[in-house]
This record gives sequence, structure tokens and C-alpha cells, in this order.
Amino acid sequence: MKEYFIQNAKDFVGETVTLKGWAYNVRKSGKIWFLLLRDGTGIMQCVITKFDADEASFDVKNVITQESSVIVTGEVKAEPRSPNGYEMLVHKVELVAVAEEYPIAKKEHGTDYLMDNRHLWLRSKRQHAIIRIRHTIIKSIRDFFDDRDFTLVDTPIFQKAATEGTATLFETDYFGEKAYLTQSGQLYGEACAAAFGKIYCFGPTFRAEKSKTRRHLTEFWMVEPEMAYYDLDMNMDLAEDFVFYIVSQVLEHRRPELETLERDISKLEAIQKPFPRISYSDAVKILEENDVDIKWGDDFGGADETIISNQFDSPVMVHRYPVAIKAFYMKRDPENENQALALDMLAPEGYGEIIGGSQREDDIDLLINRIQEDGASEDDYSWYLDLRRYGSFPHSGFGLGVERVVAWLCGLKHIRETIPFPRTISRLNP
Ligand code: 4AD
Ligand code: MG
Repeated sequence: MKEYFIQNAKDFVGETVTLKGWAYNVRKSGKIWFLLLRDGTGIMQCVITKFDADEASFDVKNVITQESSVIVTGEVKAEPRSPNGYEMLVHKVELVAVAEEYPIAKKEHGTDYLMDNRHLWLRSKRQHAIIRIRHTIIKSIRDFFDDRDFTLVDTPIFQKAATEGTATLFETDYFGEKAYLTQSGQLYGEACAAAFGKIYCFGPTFRAEKSKTRRHLTEFWMVEPEMAYYDLDMNMDLAEDFVFYIVSQVLEHRRPELETLERDISKLEAIQKPFPRISYSDAVKILEENDVDIKWGDDFGGADETIISNQFDSPVMVHRYPVAIKAFYMKRDPENENQALALDMLAPEGYGEIIGGSQREDDIDLLINRIQEDGASEDDYSWYLDLRRYGSFPHSGFGLGVERVVAWLCGLKHIRETIPFPRTISRLNP
């Protein structure tokens, strides 16, 4: 069966075809009416006249409303004045279902209202552009690792213990036992790196983020590569190649969408390898020079990250953070035991942390100490400690948050539009 989609209009110019979709807009005058037909891949201007169409088709104009579902058959021709460069001379219009008065009219709506109607808002051009860019980002993530011989492993969503601290755990009842929704697949990824060498996991992750921010969702997608025998520098090399690849794929395949969003594309084109690498201590100096009240050992807030990233056109990698503000599994720097072999990548233009990663602690005693310092139960991590008992190995990895990258590349001020149905502290519906 041959199917026709509006995005491929150039391939069926001159043919009589059937297109199926929804009425994006209807404009009527006496002997002619215009239907902007939306089929999910694009918008086609359809011209309906008494001359080309039968009477019943012509009369559809009396009942059709915005977002009514409709099937049209007609001849497609090039028309430079129409929105996509093509136009259909319609022979037949079949009304599938008449839509009730559409809640999202042309007038401006507030974001809360649009979010309440997210299931309908997704039909708009702007949301299309964002979700298509998201699609390209996800495809480029998979291609990048698949092309480099990484094995995809799927890690569990129900987990017994925290990876990223207990404060943001979502607790569930697992047949009478406590279980948590995954914050990260990393610990399981480490087990798989010992089994397969280079792996990545990619899936939804959950954090009970209790504050309202522009950068946090409670459910977000994270890709986490983990590599056997990689040290921190190799980890940073990979992170740099990876992010550069994603940016270049979006520039190559999604220019029209970036234009729809009025993204300043020159900012993305300015991104170059190598990305700057600075230590946490250097970053503290930058903040001090910018009159921020900060001392060595403090964590960076969103505003601090913006000041740091504003010094550079490309993403910046900040490495060697204080041990005390980073996760238990990070390896201590042999040159300075107060520092962890950690890395964060901060996106330009104030989009914040897009990657967090580290070299992993491979010394079992140091790891047990850190688990105890966190007040966690060694028992819950006994399988993880086995990875240090049975062939401990240097290894590293990182996690990239998909929605942060979508927000950055699309130039969105808020993370809520980066996923079809966002979950935040104040949003579970739709
Ligand atoms: O820095 P994080 O917490 O690192 C980890 O989870 C490690 N286990 C990853 C690893 O080494 N395998 O999170 C990684 C990234 C952040 O840099 C950010 O991009 C994103 O996940 N992220 C969030 N995105 C949206 N909403 C949230 N609440 C997020 N929390 C983290
Ligand atoms: Mg982090």
C-alpha cells in the first residue's frame, strides 16, 4: 500500500493522491475555500472549488471546524506562495469527525493553560519543532554509541538502593518490601562494563525534586555510558566527542525546526572542539573574579554555572570537584584526596549542567568507607562491592540528561516543553 505524507510532497507533484489528517485552519469565501491540512508531517494548503470538487465535498465547508479530522483527494502541484511550496486542487473531501470548539484558539494562552491542554498543544508547530529535534538528539545518541561498539544494556527501574543520594528517592511498595524508582542506571552499568567492556544504558530516571526550577523534571531521560579501563581524561574526551556529534547532527538535520523556534543558530555553529576543561578550583576563581561570595568546597548553584559557562562559546568541562559534594562512587584524585575525579559539562548560554560523570572508585575499602560515611547500608551495595572483589578495574562513565540538551539546543527557557508529557512537582496530568 502506498501512503502519502505531506513532508514528501515534492515526490508526488502532478499526481492525484489522498492525504489524511486534521483541519489546521479553514478560510472561506463564496465559490472557493481553503483548508490547511495537517497530517503530522507537515501542512498542505488544499483548495476546494465548485469546479474541481463534487458538491458534497464543497459543502463540507459549512460544517468543518478547526481540528476536524478529514481525508482529501486531489492533484498536488507546486505553488511557491503556499506555506510549504505545494498546493492541492481538491476533488473530494471526506469529513471523518467534526471537532468540538477547539480549546486552543489562535489567541495567546498562558503556559499553565497550555500545559493543562498539553495533549492538544502538541499539535502546534512550535511543539512539533521541539519534539522532532528531541527525536534527532535521541537518534544521534544511539548512533554515536552503536557506531563505537558500545553494547546497549537495559538497567532496572525498581532498585533497592540510592545512586544519587537519598533526598530525591521515589519510594514504592514492592510486595511489602521498599523499592525505589531508579535515579540512575550507573551501578548496574558498572557491572555490565565488567561483563562487556563498553556499554550504555538509556532510559527514564526519576528524582523527587521538591523545588520548582527551570531545569528539573521528576522524570527525565538519561543516557549513561560506562567504559572499562577509561580514566577521567578518556572519559572527558568521549563526552566532548559525544556532545559535539549531537550538536552537529541537529544542525545538519533540523535547521527548519531551529528556525521555527527562532533559535540563534550561530551560537550552535560557534561550538568547537576541543571544549575548554577547567578544574573546580579554577571555576571557583572565575566566580570570585565575578564577585560571587563562594569558597572552596561549596557546590555551584544555577546562577554560578551560568557565570562559568558564559566565559566560553563551547560547553565547558569542570573537573575535580571536592569529594564532599559529590557521590560516594567517585574515585579520589591520587594527587589530592580532597578532590574527586569528577566531571560536569556545563552547556553554553546558561543552560546548566548537561553531563555529570566520573572515574569510579575501584578500591573496595575506600568505597566501603564512603558508603558508611553516607549512613547507607553496606548490605544494600554488596553486589556492587563484588565488582571490586572479583577483578576490580579502572573505569569511568557519565550521564547526559536528554531534556537539558533539548532545552539548550532548542533555546528554551524552561525544561517543561522538552518532553511530550513533562512531570514536575506540580504536574502529573495530562
Ligand atoms: O549528575 P547526575 O546526577 O549524574 C548521575 O546520575 C550519574 N549516575 C551519571 C553517571 O555517571 N552515569 O545526572 C546526570 C545528568 C545531569 O547532568 C543532568 O543533565 C541530568 O542528568 N539531570 C536532570 N535532568 C532533568 N531533571 C532533573 N531533575 C535532573 N537531574 C539530573
Ligand atoms: Mg550532577
